[in-house]
Amino acid sequence: MNGTGGPEMLECVERPEPVAGRGEALVEISYAGVNFMDVGVRQGMAWHGPNPKILGVEGAGRVLAVGPGVDDVTPGRRVAWVYAPGSYAERITVPTTSLVPIPDTVDDRTAAAVMMQGLTASHFATDFYRVQPGDVAFVHAAAGGVGLLLTQIVKLRGGSVIGRVSSQAKVAVARAAGADHVVVDADGLFAEEALRLTGGDGVDVVYDGSGPTTFHGSLDVLRRSGTFCWYGPVLGGPGSIDITSLPKSVKIGYAVFSDHVRTPELLRARSTQLFDWIDDGRLTVRVGGEYPLADAARAHADMESRSTTGKLLLVP
Ligand SMILES: NC(=O)c1ccc[n+]([C@@H]2O[C@H](COP(=O)([O-])OP(=O)(O)OC[C@H]3O[C@@H](n4cnc5c(N)ncnc54)[C@H](OP(=O)(O)O)[C@@H]3O)[C@@H](O)[C@H]2O)c1
Repeated sequence: MNGTGGPEMLECVERPEPVAGRGEALVEISYAGVNFMDVGVRQGMAWHGPNPKILGVEGAGRVLAVGPGVDDVTPGRRVAWVYAPGSYAERITVPTTSLVPIPDTVDDRTAAAVMMQGLTASHFATDFYRVQPGDVAFVHAAAGGVGLLLTQIVKLRGGSVIGRVSSQAKVAVARAAGADHVVVDADGLFAEEALRLTGGDGVDVVYDGSGPTTFHGSLDVLRRSGTFCWYGPVLGGPGSIDITSLPKSVKIGYAVFSDHVRTPELLRARSTQLFDWIDDGRLTVRVGGEYPLADAARAHADMESRSTTGKLLLVP
């Protein structure tokens, strides 16, 4: 990434081969995940240091070599990671504490596709708000990467889902993930329909990472004492809020996946949970597009066009 701006800031260039330092592994990347946060970094969210830099934080691959002091990973091991800046690449060095082993039952493509969005979704439905049987959840961008996995995890915990998507073309995808109802809306006008679907009661939890246009509608669909899980700084926030203007007794929080995997032990446990769900057929990971690494700019443009569903992957 050469500078802040549009997808044209991404260029495929040769860089020196990375060398594993103390506590690190050198990994040959088979798939790198594209996340909406990468778009945010490209647009200037200063999360990952000065330009030029290598974008991307997620991927899967095979360990080629390890640095001094490493005894928890060996060359040849298939591994995945959720947060290692510099993942849009053929090779990367990653602290081994940030790696999780991929079980034989899960392929690299699926592992790379589930790490960020799956850990985020499992945080939202099991940790930030523990979905209980009978709960009704409202899921924004329900055909997106987080949305599809979140819908499935809410359902496997016994909840039901009202999803929102921006176009009719995404309805079938959201439904296939288990959404009980899907509202089509791109203008923040979904609340009336959601309230109708709940007989006027509202929902127990709303998951909203869709920017300022949805914030007030999301408040409107909450039942009394409901929970608002806000998670989307890239698409923008609601600005300052007068707390006395909020519906009484609602709980609002900014959920971040990193709280879910704040230690290497939790990272491995939560990832193993996702791999187990995939293995026993309870979680399906939809890959909506694969792009050669050199076409990362096209992947970004597609994601920003609001036309994609599921996970986008780069193939080095
Ligand atoms: N807090 C965390 O820890 C965390 C972790 C991962 C992701 N996130 C956030 O979760 C959201 C989803 O991320 P993702 O990687 O899974 O992406 P994604 O859902 O695959 O794609 C983003 C979705 O946002 C919706 N959207 C709404 N307004 C949009 C706009 N102006 N431009 C483009 N898309 C728009 C689109 O769905 P519709 O067109 O159907 O509305 C689109 O499918 C992002 O806001 C991301 O920053 C947060």
